Amino acid sequence: MATFNILVLPGDGIGPEVCAEGVRALEAVGKRFEHVFNFTHDIVGGASIDAHGTALREETLAQAKASDAVLFGAVGGPKWDNPTATVRPEQGLLALRSGLQLWANLRPVKAEPALLHASSLKPEVIEGVDIVVIRELTSGIYFGKPQERRVVNGKREAIDTNYYNEDEIARVAHLGFQLARGRRKKLTSLDKANVLASSRLWREVVTEVAPQYPDVQLEHVLVDAMTMHLIRRPKDFDVVIADNMFGDIITDECSMLTGSMGMLASASIGTMKADGTGLGMYEPIHGSAPDIAGKGIANPLAMLLSTAMLLRHSCGLETEAQAIEQAVGEVIEAGHRTGDIATAGEKTLGTREMADLVLARIGG
Ligand code: IPM
Ligand code: MG
Repeated sequence: MATFNILVLPGDGIGPEVCAEGVRALEAVGKRFEHVFNFTHDIVGGASIDAHGTALREETLAQAKASDAVLFGAVGGPKWDNPTATVRPEQGLLALRSGLQLWANLRPVKAEPALLHASSLKPEVIEGVDIVVIRELTSGIYFGKPQERRVVNGKREAIDTNYYNEDEIARVAHLGFQLARGRRKKLTSLDKANVLASSRLWREVVTEVAPQYPDVQLEHVLVDAMTMHLIRRPKDFDVVIADNMFGDIITDECSMLTGSMGMLASASIGTMKADGTGLGMYEPIHGSAPDIAGKGIANPLAMLLSTAMLLRHSCGLETEAQAIEQAVGEVIEAGHRTGDIATAGEKTLGTREMADLVLARIGG
């Protein structure tokens, strides 16, 4: 029997509602497969700003470091949207990524056969789409210095810096090649090498890593062209790697391919131990959705799929991860829908009802 310590950071908006279902799913897995999950709960983002004046407290970060995994809901909302505020909910997320050195963000994008109609693209374009985007998460323009506003000769100006060093690029490249190796053996690296020095280094380093993976086909694609390819021929892509900002933008586009953002999970991981597991942070990609917060109608499936990623990457429990993924797939195939993935006239379920159907299939 294995024991795992999980820090639960529900955050804002629908974060707490979906996090509660994630915790229940892990408890169900614990019961069925005889593992113990110890949960510690804390606040982050807007909730933490309201209570403590900061989006992430030092003690919360310390608790995260001492845990096996962090289950994260979402942060932000109109209440904290003032662009001139010096304290913002998103700072909590960035401080966790950086403080835990979670340098890779994995976002799987898979078209569920039963949900093909939910996309704005033609079913035949997205049928069979199966992409994993790996976004670099702790460097680049999000963290490069200088990052500041200043007044020069009486005029306001601002600067962000897209800094990368070769080690930061190489580790993302290795992860991309390794992941591609276990899949369809194709790696697409995004950059803007025709303009940016940081992108030219990115392309150079990825190319240098490639000979170690002769079985994987590598292609470099300019990020602006990629935005077109993704909506025209998304099936052509397998594993995609990108820097922090390009990855941020492209993953939003990818999430729309399936039309069901409420289904998409993510894992943020760092340098893993020899056994392949390590600390990670797991969150649905749908965000805090303040418009539906507190109504009990949010789709819990992205969170449940995020717990599957937690089991896989932080606990090394592949069978258990697949049990959740299979249960979610069955529930969708059986025609159960929350409002976000329902078509007109279909019966819609609430957050708890939907999660109950998945939990019943996990057993425990
Ligand atoms: C994401 C989000 C965050 C980011 C925001 C909330 C800071 O867009 O996780 O993709 O830009 O990384
Ligand atoms: Mg984003």
